[in-house]
Amino acid sequence: MRNIILIGFMGTGKTTIATALANRLKMRYISTDDLIEKKEKSTINEIFTKKGEEYFRDAESDAIREAAQMENVIIDAGGGAVIREENMTNFKSNGIIVCLTADEETIMQRTKKYKHRPLLNVEDPKRKIRELLAKRAPFYAKADYCIDTGKFTARQVVNKIIEIVEAADKSDKEIAQ
Ligand code: S3P
Repeated sequence: MRNIILIGFMGTGKTTIATALANRLKMRYISTDDLIEKKEKSTINEIFTKKGEEYFRDAESDAIREAAQMENVIIDAGGGAVIREENMTNFKSNGIIVCLTADEETIMQRTKKYKHRPLLNVEDPKRKIRELLAKRAPFYAKADYCIDTGKFTARQVVNKIIEIVEAADKSDKEIAQ
């Protein structure tokens, strides 16, 4: 099966869904944030504070290049990965891209209990979410498919993604015959 890449805003459920998909499909789970933290030997928060967002984005593009070369993997991409065109090109080269979405309120509720996301450690996280969602909407829309995780259970989302990928694989085979 081809790689499955999950993109989407922070708090849309990428990690939960990617982990469940990896278990169901017996594929390896890869998180671009984990690759960065391992390579930099620092947390995402530390990287943002000590080296700044541009440095993080460069490290993220390197991690994506590495992940896109792997096979049989489910990739959990950081929420901002979509803003650089080269990242999307790398993902598209070797997989099917599914964007998970959720509304502003759902994202707020899901993210407010955590402190590991530097972009949301601000005085008014709701405003930040609104601004970033508006700015990034055209980039998330470049995915092959989008699923609103606020409307379905995690199990339903996983099933939908499996259906999508199986259908795409089947149509590839038909074209090849
Ligand atoms: C970011 C999302 C985070 C992480 C970093 C920046 C973003 O990943 O890469 O904090 O710019 O949206 P998650 O989407 O997995 O939280």
